[in-house]
Amino acid sequence: MNITEEIQDLKREKNAVILAHYYVNPEIQEIADYIGDSYYLSKVAVDLKEQTIVFCGVSFMGESAKILNPDKTVLMPDISADCAMAHMADAKTIQKMREEYEDLAVVCYINSTAELKRLSDVCVTSANAVKIVKALPNKNIFFIPDRNLAHFVASQVPEKHFVYNEGYCPVHEEIQEQEIRKEKELHPAAKVLTHPECPQTVRDMSDYIGSTSGIIAYAAKSDCQEFIICTENGVRFELERQNPDKRFYFTRTEPVCHDMKKITLVKIRDVLKNGGNEIQVTDELRRESVEPLERMLELAK
Ligand code: 13P
Ligand code: SF4
Repeated sequence: MNITEEIQDLKREKNAVILAHYYVNPEIQEIADYIGDSYYLSKVAVDLKEQTIVFCGVSFMGESAKILNPDKTVLMPDISADCAMAHMADAKTIQKMREEYEDLAVVCYINSTAELKRLSDVCVTSANAVKIVKALPNKNIFFIPDRNLAHFVASQVPEKHFVYNEGYCPVHEEIQEQEIRKEKELHPAAKVLTHPECPQTVRDMSDYIGSTSGIIAYAAKSDCQEFIICTENGVRFELERQNPDKRFYFTRTEPVCHDMKKITLVKIRDVLKNGGNEIQVTDELRRESVEPLERMLELAK
């Protein structure tokens, strides 16, 4: 029996389902039951019939799934797979902003720890942030942790006053304007599709800015045959699967989230077999962090 067959057998035996983000390695995307961006995966997680969720992604994703489904078992193939940006905000600053600004909403990108979510009014993902911020009654928005996504949302919702936090994604921050210019010279007809975690200079050169699912949907619908992709290289698999005749270019220093790449078939098999790496969230933390997540799911409908 090969490892894929072993995983399929274990899944049936343990009543488990595999969720995967587009940034994980192709062989993981191939065996996943559901694959998508952070928003899609958080929606899917609340409607699953299986008792065990194996989450092929980083810790904030598994943690969110557990918070939304406290009665389910959420297993992480690699418990050390984490998102650096998820820690780039702090309770003290949130408290300070609440004291400084009246009529303030603390808007928390889902790429954050549960400890940050519990201090926030609503969560967002890159797929729904503009819609949700527009729908909030508050004038002032303190957006944590990502400054790049915050600036992008602010540009789309000029009627609100934004207060920025200095968090960023180390992978997207590395994508540089000069590299895109070089790619544009090589492929002048290509459209530039960009994740909003990229720096403003890159966003300014883009034909489309959106979540990983947004980028994939744009490429599939477009009449254009070539694209310069400004996000993590894991999306290449789905882009090429859906569009075998189109061409996708990444910057020379291809963006890689090494934490997402920690997930392997062997680790999935082992976690299914032995039940290790279970996400644990205390009742108190769960109660306080579920509200902003549920508010997100409601407002994004
Ligand atoms: P998406 O919300 O587009 O899935 O992005 C998540 C992420 O981690 C981007 O770096
Ligand atoms: Fe976090 Fe960046 Fe990796 Fe996304 S790509 S999980 S934001 S470190």
